[in-house]
Amino acid sequence: MISAFQEQRTLVGERVTLVPLGPEHFDGEWAMLRDEESRRLTGTHATFTEGQVRAWLAKVRQADDRADWAILHDGAFVGEVVLNDLDEDNRSVGFRIVLVSHAYGKGLGMEATRLAVRYAFEDAGLHRVHLEVFEHNPRARRVYEKCGFRVEGEHRDALWWDGRWHNTFTMGILSTDQ
Ligand SMILES: CC(C)(COP(=O)(O)OP(=O)(O)OC[C@H]1O[C@@H](n2cnc3c(N)ncnc32)[C@H](O)[C@@H]1OP(=O)(O)O)[C@@H](O)C(=O)NCCC(=O)NCCS
Repeated sequence: MISAFQEQRTLVGERVTLVPLGPEHFDGEWAMLRDEESRRLTGTHATFTEGQVRAWLAKVRQADDRADWAILHDGAFVGEVVLNDLDEDNRSVGFRIVLVSHAYGKGLGMEATRLAVRYAFEDAGLHRVHLEVFEHNPRARRVYEKCGFRVEGEHRDALWWDGRWHNTFTMGILSTDQ
């Protein structure tokens, strides 16, 4: 059991604060889930009802195999960042991040990514963090590369979106890369 996931900390950066995600973030989450640009860039096909989102937010803090944070900027919800898909035996975890579209391009995603990756290595003691990014998302890929992730593979036609196929890149960073 990873104690950093059982008792998830708030992470304070220069411009963003990451607070454990919970029911008080419903309005921000709900707006973000309906943000068409964020849905496109994350390849989100699924739709969620208000009840499903509330139920998820009510229980997410109890999960001890993942860490979900709300990203706050000037006290307002601007997105979420997540460490999930934990593989304790191999000390690896998945990563994902999404901001509301009005918050893109201000350096907030870069800072939130750095904070969450550092948490995975320093607080949780993990060795590897991995993610997927679509070829039509060069901004996200740039952020990940600047944070130290390397492209490890390309998956052809992994996403069907807007009537055509898109490739996906897998990226990873190791604690020893730092
Ligand atoms: C991806 C995301 C988290 C990045 O966060 P952000 O706060 O918007 O990004 P930042 O402002 O920190 O950094 C953007 C960087 O990408 C660069 N960039 C922007 N558009 C770019 C493009 N089309 N091609 C290449 N680089 C680009 C910027 O110049 C900047 O790099 P720099 O600091 O070297 O100048 C955010 O945009 C987001 O949530 N997007 C929608 C959801 C998403 O894509 N999630 C990731 C799915 S894998």
